[in-house]
Amino acid sequence: MATFPVQRPRRLRASAALRDLVAETRLEPRQLVAPLFVREGIDVPQPIASLPGVLQHTRASLLAEVRELADLGVGAVILFGVPSTKDSIGSGAFDPEGIVQLALGEIREAVGDRLVVMADLCVDEYTDHGHCGVLDGRGSVDNDRTLDVYAKIAVAQARAGAQVVAPSGMMDGQVGVIRQALDGAGFHDVAILAYSAKYASGLYGPFRDAVDCAIVGGGDRKGYQQDWRNGSREALREVFADLDQGADMVMVKPALSYLDVIAAVRAAVDVPVAAYHVSGEYSMIKAAAKNGWIDHDAVATEQLTAIRRAGADVILTYFARWYAERYAAS
Ligand code: PBG
Repeated sequence: MATFPVQRPRRLRASAALRDLVAETRLEPRQLVAPLFVREGIDVPQPIASLPGVLQHTRASLLAEVRELADLGVGAVILFGVPSTKDSIGSGAFDPEGIVQLALGEIREAVGDRLVVMADLCVDEYTDHGHCGVLDGRGSVDNDRTLDVYAKIAVAQARAGAQVVAPSGMMDGQVGVIRQALDGAGFHDVAILAYSAKYASGLYGPFRDAVDCAIVGGGDRKGYQQDWRNGSREALREVFADLDQGADMVMVKPALSYLDVIAAVRAAVDVPVAAYHVSGEYSMIKAAAKNGWIDHDAVATEQLTAIRRAGADVILTYFARWYAERYAAS
């Protein structure tokens, strides 16, 4: 036996109760946001092959899902629309009769303030070319013309009942323009969750199936989303720009490959930090678990907890419902 004082950290690992008592990180359903897809012109919900367990909802099935999520104690939902027609500027995104606007109204009426209702604010699901903005004559995204469209979307979403709008298109100045538009229309209380540090990630593949969105001609989003070779230096520049323009919360996306960025943002700002555990991160767990290669529940919980541990206050995840059901049962 050693004569020096042996450190014995194992003492506090001796039972589940002890481990629970001293755990540094907690993950509660209230901290989760469920991304939900609502599709125009369908009568029954459609499965999404690359996102097992996630559906393209009808307005009716969406409503039922949101009610159940509220009952389960999930903190929020964020809506994405799948329109039946697209055009060059994505006008379905701000049409008062557009699919998300109709759904927002019904949801707010059904659940009120029992959970937070957010709307993703972008045009890629609504444009016939698949980009997150309006194209200039040379086929690249025109930043400032896109801002005019985002301003209209923000007001349409707020009018329909969104409590939080979440601009995800990575246009420069988007938060300021949206704040100005919301205030100008009297929506001072509608908050902005800015997708501030959003990377041009390969992990969005299943999402693009979910919203039937492909960039025509096979382009990419590297002209506006961040280069993943860049860390917190560039991310913080984006975050501070968004805060200066009036963002209420900031987001890092994706989550697991960017834990360093989440930690740096958490340390640098005093607003809530969100992280988006994106479609590819979810589907990798589903696929590996289906093959019997990993334990689904163990890995999903470990990874979501790691995102919290890195510093995210809020997590957008397709696991929200599963986690809340599991939490209720435990
Ligand atoms: C853009 C948007 C995307 C996601 C959320 N908002 C796709 C993209 O930038 O290509 C991806 C979310 C996910 O993969 O789960 N409106």
